[in-house]
Amino acid sequence: MTDNVNYYFKAGAATKAPILMLHGTGGYEDDLVTLAQQLAPDSPLLGIRGRLVEQGSTRYFAHTTTGGFDLDSLARETTWLLATIDELAEKHDLEVSKMIVLGYSNGANMAAHAWLTNQAKFKAGILLHPMQLMQYSSVASLNDVKIWASHGHIDPIVSAANFQALTQSLTKAQVDLTIFEANQSHAISPPELASAQQWLQQIIA
Ligand code: MLT
Repeated sequence: MTDNVNYYFKAGAATKAPILMLHGTGGYEDDLVTLAQQLAPDSPLLGIRGRLVEQGSTRYFAHTTTGGFDLDSLARETTWLLATIDELAEKHDLEVSKMIVLGYSNGANMAAHAWLTNQAKFKAGILLHPMQLMQYSSVASLNDVKIWASHGHIDPIVSAANFQALTQSLTKAQVDLTIFEANQSHAISPPELASAQQWLQQIIA
């Protein structure tokens, strides 16, 4: 099944947690390589490209015709992404439960959605500018999950209310959550990376 998947893999130290890179809208499987190498120099890296293209931009799930999130596409593509991660992990001898997600925007949203629907096997992640994609009524405990998540006060894509809803959902599910907020937009900033790096150093094997 992974024959048609656009992915990036780089081997690393077997003792280090693999980094799972999930790009933002319009991104590619290797977009976050420089960032991942900066944050976790010796880790194996796996990046997977979302398989949808909307108005020329790669994505992990579709919008509806009226601009909302297409929840059927979201469910379908989450299943696809998680199955693809499993297959590539097996192929490259990586343990999914040891992976640390490095997700930006659309990719971070997928990881958060996978956790909040209790489908994710990975247990840690750096979510750069994530948002909550839907209401989650019953989330089983995620008390073994550690997440660092960032938000910009002047982000035109992720509202303060949405980020708050996301952090509330994660907190309610007992995630060990670290939040970075600053007066920044949707782009990743140096202080944000410094904070993520500091967090990662505490949890990386
Ligand atoms: C999404 O579609 O996941 C969000 O709007 C963020 C993005 O545009 O990537």
